[in-house]
Amino acid sequence: MFITVTANPMVEHLFPVSDLHAGSRHRPTQAWTFATGKGLNVARALHDLGEEVVAVLAVGGRRGREIVERVEAEGIRSRIVPVRGENRAGATLFHEGQHTTIYGPGPTLEDGDVEALVANVRSLLPARCLVLAGSVGHPSLYTRLSTLGVPLALDFCHPCLDECMRVGNVLVAKPNRQELGYLYGIDDPVVGAHRLHEQGARWSVVTDGAGPAIFQSGGVTRRVQPLRVRQVHPIGSGDALLAGLLHALPRGPEAAVAFATACGAHNASRPEVARLDPAACEALARQVECTRLEG
Ligand SMILES: Nc1ncnc2c1ncn2[C@@H]1O[C@H](COP(=O)(O)OP(=O)(O)OP(=O)(O)O)[C@@H](O)[C@H]1O
Ligand SMILES: [Mg+2]
Repeated sequence: MFITVTANPMVEHLFPVSDLHAGSRHRPTQAWTFATGKGLNVARALHDLGEEVVAVLAVGGRRGREIVERVEAEGIRSRIVPVRGENRAGATLFHEGQHTTIYGPGPTLEDGDVEALVANVRSLLPARCLVLAGSVGHPSLYTRLSTLGVPLALDFCHPCLDECMRVGNVLVAKPNRQELGYLYGIDDPVVGAHRLHEQGARWSVVTDGAGPAIFQSGGVTRRVQPLRVRQVHPIGSGDALLAGLLHALPRGPEAAVAFATACGAHNASRPEVARLDPAACEALARQVECTRLEG
């Protein structure tokens, strides 16, 4: 079983808008709404891939109730941790590969919320992997969760990443290239992947949207050119890739990298967020080519 934690989930509305102009009115004829947040996105993708997964969610207010309702309707198992305040609302406007996001403010987690989240995760153990992705919510939450001994997948951009890597059993660390720059001032994905690997990540993965992604594991570094797809929007592609990697790890490194890349591309090619069609992902995975880098 997998566990994901989402400290700052949201109700996200996604609109295709071809003529975005500040100060004008837009009336798209289609719209999608999802309960999102990186941990929850990974949970959705794992669920679609047939994995047993529990999404631990910090929820509050009316939007919190909507998040719970939406997650239940999708059949994703969850553990709800009530918090004070109102969960975020978000809007994403997209057109032909360009996107604009507005993510509103979420609740501030208190010490007691951290305790409740940690207790919920602990009560669900053992697990194959604990996914800590997206907004940290509280400076001590991820560090606390990292000490539980369960294999971790870390995908967030906060200075506590180093501490989590120091105290935790890290199966995967997966920042994107921009996050790598923000965290370490490193621009080169290969250098970044090496650094994360040296810090103890058994898999270090640095993605860069439609640019080459680096996967390092077991002393082998692979560069993968993302598949050519017509991008709808990229929201959740990293989450889909992470879910695909976790799902496919038992197949061995080469196949896991291919499947993960396929999941990322599949997500980028559709308007939904981290919703995967497994057969489509399998078909795409057969097209992925990776290059082993020397050294
Ligand atoms: N336009 C695209 N075409 C093909 N594949 C894509 C595209 N965008 C993303 N992907 C795939 O998804 C992977 C992850 O994308 P990206 O680097 O955008 O993740 P991210 O920034 O972590 O996204 P998020 O945090 O929103 O989930 C890429 O390495 C690539 O394989
Ligand atoms: Mg990401």
